[in-house]
Amino acid sequence: MPTCNPVLAIDNLSLEFPAYQNNVKALNGVSLHVNPGEIVGVVGESGSGKSVTAMLSMRLLPERSYRITSGSLSMLNRNMLTAPEKDLLQIRGRDCAMIFQEPMTALNPTRRIGRQMLDVIIHHQKISAAAARDKAIALLRDMHIASPEQVLESYPFELSGGMRQRVMIALAFSCEPQLLIADEPTTALDVTVQRQVLLLLREKARQKGTAILLITHDMALVSQFCDRVYVMYTGAVVEQGLTDDVMSHPQHPYTQGLLSGLPEMVEPGQPLMTIPGQVPNLARLPSGCTFAERCAHAMPMCGERPVLTAIHGNEQRKSACWLPHQELS
Ligand SMILES: Nc1ncnc2c1ncn2[C@@H]1O[C@H](COP(=O)(O)OP(=O)(O)OP(=O)(O)O)[C@@H](O)[C@H]1O
Ligand SMILES: [Mg+2]
Repeated sequence: MPTCNPVLAIDNLSLEFPAYQNNVKALNGVSLHVNPGEIVGVVGESGSGKSVTAMLSMRLLPERSYRITSGSLSMLNRNMLTAPEKDLLQIRGRDCAMIFQEPMTALNPTRRIGRQMLDVIIHHQKISAAAARDKAIALLRDMHIASPEQVLESYPFELSGGMRQRVMIALAFSCEPQLLIADEPTTALDVTVQRQVLLLLREKARQKGTAILLITHDMALVSQFCDRVYVMYTGAVVEQGLTDDVMSHPQHPYTQGLLSGLPEMVEPGQPLMTIPGQVPNLARLPSGCTFAERCAHAMPMCGERPVLTAIHGNEQRKSACWLPHQELS
């Protein structure tokens, strides 16, 4: 349970996309929360439901394309599943901002950066164009951009990928949101730029007390940037805890699999491992543990789906696997 009022609280959330035959069960009882100022990671393979969780948190999934079958989702104590559109418009951008993988798609290619930044700042803050321009310059400078005036005059395609993402981060912070959701914000960038951008993101978040939900398939990024982490698989959280704890003592075989693919976690000379098999079809999930068919430790009791359970009574540290219980009994 959260220790203070969380900025984002998701409880037992299940969502499906209706389909002609079997519905796609994209989220299956997800619970997660983000406390003020925390940097929280959500990690998992492709198709594990990370983006659906992120998009739904801001109610950005196309209405009527999905059905909520259980649970709740609130942002700053407001029910996001029932909030009317006019409230959503206020929440997005003012209370919560989102950064996506490819800033080129979020920026309008035909308009200069300055024009786009000013529009956003003026819309949310109701200040004059001159004040908004000063603010845009300050925001870009905060992102360690050496010549903000020049960037304001540029079109998106004239900037490098890393520079575009810095502009997006500056924009995301422009309304001083309490929560920033970053969905694979640096996946399109090379490793060095990736690190620089994330360090800037974290520095700025710490300065402003902004909470971040960082969505990534990359455990290495989580280990470097997040206070806590949720590991997702087939639309459910299978492990959670403080990042250091999850990294050093992963409980779920899925988390262990993700970690054994990281060069920094493997003894020199040992091969990097990948998890065998494939993510099961979300329209035909097995009734038992959804990871069992790929798991080296699978046993008869995995025919029943394990629930996310506190480890050693620690409510912050949980795993959804029968294995620890087996060892304890
Ligand atoms: N509009 C939709 N209609 C049907 N299925 C969808 C829709 N949007 C997402 N899905 C399915 O929901 C599942 C979860 O998708 P999601 O995009 O959340 O995965 P992800 O964890 O973000 O993966 P990635 O790492 O590839 O971004 C996937 O199987 C996806 O195909
Ligand atoms: Mg995604």
